[in-house]
Amino acid sequence: MSRERKILELKEKIDKAQRGGGDIAIDKQHSRGKFTARERIDLLLDKKSFEEIDMFRLHECSDFDMQKKKILGDGMVTGYGTIHGRLVFVYAFDFTVFGGSLSKTVADKVVKVLEKAAKVGAPVIGINDSGGARIQEGVDSLAGYTEIFLRNVLYSGVVPQISAVVGPCAGGAVYSPALTDFVFMVRKTAYMFLTGPKIVRTVTHEDVTADQLGGADIHATKSGIAHFTYDDEKSLFEGIRKLFNYIPQNNMEEAPIIPNQDPPDRIDEDLNYLVPDNPNKPYDMKEILERILDNGEFFEVQSLFAPNIIIGFGRLNGRSVGIVANQPKYLAGVLDSNSSNKAARFVRFCDAFNIPIITFEDVPGFMPGTVQEYNGIIKHGAKMLYAYAEATVPKITVITRKGYGGAFCVMNSKQLRGDYSYAWPSSEIAVMGPQGASEIIFSKEIKAAENPKEKLREKIEEYRDKFANPYVAAAKGYVDEVIEPKITRYKLIKALEMLANKRDENPPKKHGNIPL
Ligand code: HXC
Repeated sequence: MSRERKILELKEKIDKAQRGGGDIAIDKQHSRGKFTARERIDLLLDKKSFEEIDMFRLHECSDFDMQKKKILGDGMVTGYGTIHGRLVFVYAFDFTVFGGSLSKTVADKVVKVLEKAAKVGAPVIGINDSGGARIQEGVDSLAGYTEIFLRNVLYSGVVPQISAVVGPCAGGAVYSPALTDFVFMVRKTAYMFLTGPKIVRTVTHEDVTADQLGGADIHATKSGIAHFTYDDEKSLFEGIRKLFNYIPQNNMEEAPIIPNQDPPDRIDEDLNYLVPDNPNKPYDMKEILERILDNGEFFEVQSLFAPNIIIGFGRLNGRSVGIVANQPKYLAGVLDSNSSNKAARFVRFCDAFNIPIITFEDVPGFMPGTVQEYNGIIKHGAKMLYAYAEATVPKITVITRKGYGGAFCVMNSKQLRGDYSYAWPSSEIAVMGPQGASEIIFSKEIKAAENPKEKLREKIEEYRDKFANPYVAAAKGYVDEVIEPKITRYKLIKALEMLANKRDENPPKKHGNIPL
């Protein structure tokens, strides 16, 4: 064969591989409002940055006449490219080839990029749109999945791992996205569940659609498995690109510093008036965050799940920070099982990837009652405590109002190695709220009073005057500074600068035993 012919042959092969399952399958994919694997990669990565690996890999199955059905690449597109000029690895299931099902070859390709990413210290993004295990391959496919799960676990906390779920993701296949740091889902076409609607009907007699069982909205609001949800794939890939502004390449690096025009010493007078005088009146913590962060930009994570706590990323003087904040607007910002889990996992992500954590605190305590206790709030709250305690990144707290009881201890208190704690003059830091405390410690006095209701009111006021302020804690060094709210941005930036070279360690161990 001549050189020219050989080059032509290569070009033909590349062209064939790029057409995946063929034009009919591609049209079917488009007709459902879905992109192909390569189109998705183009949306995700910087223009023309994608370099494909293993384009010509073929499956090795010969059962069910599969030797006659070989497609270049075998339904998996893998490679590397850049996002905002920074290296990332990517793997994308191609639904046009055997429904994006996972063969041993597909798994080998995924494992190859996961290992490369870990070796060179770059994030990995998996794009999931798959019918699950390649049925013709049987146990080889199961082994393939497990090889992927193992790498997801081994590289957890080494390089950021992100999952886009843009089609079916069912059965054991869900565990790979679940093991990654952030799950992005698109509405209508994506779903994740362990067992599909048919089996659910047989076993539990529940009648549900795929969307009701595991659609994006369900996982965003009820299970908390989806961190981000979008109406269409384009916005989803833009969302992933946005996340990359805030995270580092690996656990040995820091997130990029992106300078901006927002003055570090910007004062916001309105902050002095945002917390209502009435301690039982709600307000929107997000407004406070937006007034403090650079350019008012807050990139919220899991916004629809457990909204009584807010988590997400922002910048302060260009530096990326992770935010954990009670939200008085929902359930008075109380801590319950879901909000504790949500915050704990986020704190661990930030700690694993060297992102300082800023905690905004207005917490009346943990949610009482049988629902929460039976649900194991003790162990879920303990997870949050554990996550804060073991975190060695810079940890700063701003107490805007309530800091009561165990919840005060858990929310990055100084005794959990919180580095710096600011309190606003509206803070109330005490073992419990004035009403509960007065009912207990003055119970005899109240009972004996001529007018018990009046007595209780009096005692509540007495307790409030004595303890519902920041100065008792400040006098004991449990908060470092009481500040005017309007200078919080400046104060946080100063503290972050002071903590920039912080070094802290945990005792040597194989790993701890977080109360799961
Ligand atoms: C092989 C598969 C496949 C699979 C789909 N295809 N799933 N081939 N293995 N798992 C093929 C179809 O035969 C079809 O091929 C093409 O992909 C497109 O599939 P359609 O059914 O036409 O598409 P659609 O109507 O969109 O339905 C999508 C689907 C459905 C809902 C995903 O295909 C489906 O239910 N597939 C089976 C899902 C499943 O049970 N998977 C195994 C789960 S067990 P042709 O040639 O006709 O175009 C599992 C265990 C994992 O995953 C454990 C990990 C630890």
